[in-house]
Amino acid sequence: MLYTQKALDHYYNPRNVGEIESADASAQEGEPGCGDTIRVWIRVREERLEQVTFKAFGCPAVIACCSMMTEMATGLTLNEARSLNDDMVVLALDGLPEEKLHCSVFAASVLHAAIDNYEKSKSPAVQEYEI
Ligand code: FES
Repeated sequence: MLYTQKALDHYYNPRNVGEIESADASAQEGEPGCGDTIRVWIRVREERLEQVTFKAFGCPAVIACCSMMTEMATGLTLNEARSLNDDMVVLALDGLPEEKLHCSVFAASVLHAAIDNYEKSKSPAVQEYEI
């Protein structure tokens, strides 16, 4: 199994690791099969991702994908970030070993979940009325 230089670089020197104090939103996802878990935090300013960070308990592919995803997502509008997908992250890493491609799906999906949580937190609270 061979990782590209770029994937190894993001694995050994992951970017944007850690929690954002007073983040606007976060989300967590995991792969029950292997136990890998990822958490992502976002800071949003004027509908743009000003900062994206992560913590991961996972395999090298998960860590490389999360690191690359945070670099790609930072500065994007929320709509642009929703278009970011696992294929784009894998391409930016110059590929992943075939047997590790399934590990790439979490990086984009956990980012999308954090954006969903941000948008839910911005929508008016649901009111209950007695009929
Ligand atoms: Fe579990 Fe990579 S081995 S996501």
